[in-house]
Amino acid sequence: MKKFYITTPIYYVNDKPHIGHAYTTIAADVIARYHKLKEEEVFFLTGVDEHGTKVAESAKKQDRNPQEFCNRISQRFKDTWERLNISNNDFIRTTDERHIKGVEKFLKELRRRGLIYKGEYRGLYCTGCEKFITEKELVNGECPIHQKRPEVVSEKNYFFKLSKYLDKVQKLIQNDEIEILPKERKNETLGLIKQGLEDFSISREKVKWGIKLPWDKKQTVYVWVDALLNYITALDYGNDQKKFRRFWPADLQLLGKDILKFHAIYWPALLLALNIKPPKKLFVHGYFTISGQKMSKSLGNIITPEEMIEKFGVDGTRYLLISTTTFGQDADVCWEWFKEKYNADLANGIGNLVARVSNILEKDNIEVNITVGSDKGLKNKIDKKMQQYRFDEALEILWQVLRKSDKSLSNKKPWELDDVEKKRKVLEHISQNVLNVAELLQPFLPETAGKIVKQFSKKQVKKGKALFPRIK
Ligand code: MSP
Repeated sequence: MKKFYITTPIYYVNDKPHIGHAYTTIAADVIARYHKLKEEEVFFLTGVDEHGTKVAESAKKQDRNPQEFCNRISQRFKDTWERLNISNNDFIRTTDERHIKGVEKFLKELRRRGLIYKGEYRGLYCTGCEKFITEKELVNGECPIHQKRPEVVSEKNYFFKLSKYLDKVQKLIQNDEIEILPKERKNETLGLIKQGLEDFSISREKVKWGIKLPWDKKQTVYVWVDALLNYITALDYGNDQKKFRRFWPADLQLLGKDILKFHAIYWPALLLALNIKPPKKLFVHGYFTISGQKMSKSLGNIITPEEMIEKFGVDGTRYLLISTTTFGQDADVCWEWFKEKYNADLANGIGNLVARVSNILEKDNIEVNITVGSDKGLKNKIDKKMQQYRFDEALEILWQVLRKSDKSLSNKKPWELDDVEKKRKVLEHISQNVLNVAELLQPFLPETAGKIVKQFSKKQVKKGKALFPRIK
């Protein structure tokens, strides 16, 4: 059986989940479910990033100890993914014992191989990014992402000999052994390597909330090194390694564009240093803005998945978030757009068609003889799009079938036909199309598509409840 290991970034627990986090997780879920549909052995990992200054400061603001704070927010992430019907096989927390063990093991091994040295670091640190930034990157003296002045940090740290692996990483990216998609991101990464990168520090002296360095307990593991390792500690890298041998290297790692450097350069370099294979593929997606503005607590414009679920239901939310834009690009969203899209594609689209067809079938007692998986052509078309992560185009192909069926129903008016066999034929054809679409929609709308498949797999199709009630 073919294996497929897919990951999302692990989310900072400094605040509750918003639709940006949900976006990556839903995309990963769609891909994971698609591979399951193809009968591959899928391991789908997501989780949370609990250490570092950013989280510690949020806990402090609420007068809580960091662990307690992390427990609470982590649970919210877990609950949200459950609510959204996310099919992850594991949920890793960086405060998990298994993770801590794995990180210690990894770092000890790096040190044993002489790849760690002690040095002094002086630089500008942005807590929002949890990284050092250069003077060049500042805009009006501030971090362009967090619009905050970085702190001047000077301390003794341990460094990783990144420079030793840059050539190799560059080659692997150039020849797509580490495939970075979309192509612009591959070029961006190669550009970053060309500009030159310095060795990076893997520990912090002043940060307290985190994993201690095994050989120097006064130092805390740098939160990014801690976090990246989750992708292998979740596979029991620190322990019996059975899962690790089965599933590593990752077949696909999803991430937002803001964390490209860590995933495309630092991460492969760390792995190569221990002779571990790098991930096969990284897909870098864009960012959501809300009516042109960055989603942020201070602007008070955060949209949470719960708010969306309340209005559009679980599958509605999944569909809307996935259809905002071509996967990989930035998207600007607002409630009005969500509502229009929901009504057009779901309420008046698939929901209405399913209701119309099933109503006539039940009312006129008509039996149809249709089967799942009968349209190989459609399946192949969707497969091609899914291989390229073109969810928008895959959905468009399916919606074309729905629109055509809807038109055909209106034109052929089976309800006016006296010839029972003719009527049956018209409805059978349309029902078959609905079933074909529903089957391929399962990764996107697991609950609804599953319902339709069940409903239309019976000879005598019965009408059901409205799938997507119209929103005023
Ligand atoms: N903890 C780090 C990642 C460590 S992975 C080893 C981190 N966390 S984060 O919570 O800030 O963001 C993680 C991911 O959430 C982003 O890479 C992106 O996939 C998703 N998004 C967060 N905000 C987003 C938007 N506004 N829009 C789209 N996705 C966004 O960075």
